Amino acid sequence: MDKKLDEKTILDALKQVEDPDLKKNIVSLNFIKDLKISSENKVSFTLELTTPACPFKGKMKEQAEKLVREIPGVQDVEIQLTSRVRSTVQENTKNNIPGIKNIIVVGSGKGGVGKSTVSVNLAIALSQTGANVGLLDADIYGPSIPKLLSLDPLPDTETSGKICSVYRYGIRVMSIGLLLPPKKAVVWRGPMLDKMLKVLLYEVDWGDLDYLVVDLPPGTGDVQMTLCQNLQLSGAVVVSTPQGVAIEVAVKAMDMFQKLQCPVLGILENMSYYICNHCSQKEYIFGMGSTRQVSEEWHIPFLGEVPLCSQIRYTSDQGIPITISDPNSEGAKAFQEIASKISAQVSIKNFQE
Ligand SMILES: Nc1ncnc2c1ncn2[C@@H]1O[C@H](COP(=O)(O)OP(=O)(O)OP(=O)(O)O)[C@@H](O)[C@H]1O
Ligand SMILES: [Mg+2]
Repeated sequence: MDKKLDEKTILDALKQVEDPDLKKNIVSLNFIKDLKISSENKVSFTLELTTPACPFKGKMKEQAEKLVREIPGVQDVEIQLTSRVRSTVQENTKNNIPGIKNIIVVGSGKGGVGKSTVSVNLAIALSQTGANVGLLDADIYGPSIPKLLSLDPLPDTETSGKICSVYRYGIRVMSIGLLLPPKKAVVWRGPMLDKMLKVLLYEVDWGDLDYLVVDLPPGTGDVQMTLCQNLQLSGAVVVSTPQGVAIEVAVKAMDMFQKLQCPVLGILENMSYYICNHCSQKEYIFGMGSTRQVSEEWHIPFLGEVPLCSQIRYTSDQGIPITISDPNSEGAKAFQEIASKISAQVSIKNFQE
């Protein structure tokens, strides 16, 4: 029998594995849990990452396993991969919502650039990695989440307790569109809107969420201000399209978030290029690289490009988002990659605090 291994030898070897986002080794990040060495020198431990959406999880696990196997005397290695999402919210700060660890708002200065499409697919893509995710439709005057998820208004309930969020495609959802009869417009002034938003945030039973994705209305107005001023947000994701006008307005949205002291987690470009239905060729019909350039000028992470394709529009209209109806398509993969990058930015931010 080889000499008995000790924990220090194992941990020293594991110090060579770095989390590429957090830029620290996994031992100093305290990611190694339940390290056990059996009497036959079999090593087992749990690698606890900061998000189940971590794009490097497979690679880090592989690297860790290889390094431990190379230690003389080790007979076998077993690594469990788990995650514990950290929270942006510090106890007793602002009016945080109990049980919700991170709130990510999705906005842009301009209407129709795809905020709702991105919000829905981002929330689903995050949940598909194993995270607990909620989606709040904060577009009080023009809610579109019920349609995108083919949800009908809830029946009137007379309970005095909290409003139940609706569970759909693995995420918890709430929208004013679920509380009002269909085809009724909301005609309210600012203060009512503010009140309704607070109802949707505080009087809905969201359960325990790693991430609450918030679909914002277009513009830089009341809803954005209410959310940024009342809650400690993990940050904002800005959606733009490649056309010059859209980018100019996206820049204004970034400026607004910064003025409201809401960190910008990154900017993404929707409708970046067209995928031909017949030959699947890519065509950058609105030009290429403009959003990425803005991200560089603003020193804000570029989160990725989403193609303009009829499948995204069609699946949205059907109420079965592309991340559910065709998760292996190019469109769905774009959302999955963006979701990973956003969760990484949230982890980085939470570790800095
Ligand atoms: N990548 C895409 N490819 C094809 N169609 C898309 C894409 N993204 C969004 N769309 C379509 O564009 C329209 C507008 O999208 P969406 O409602 O998500 O935008 P929005 O920014 O939320 O709009 P609003 O400002 O009105 O809230 C919808 O019909 C949607 O299906
Ligand atoms: Mg919208």
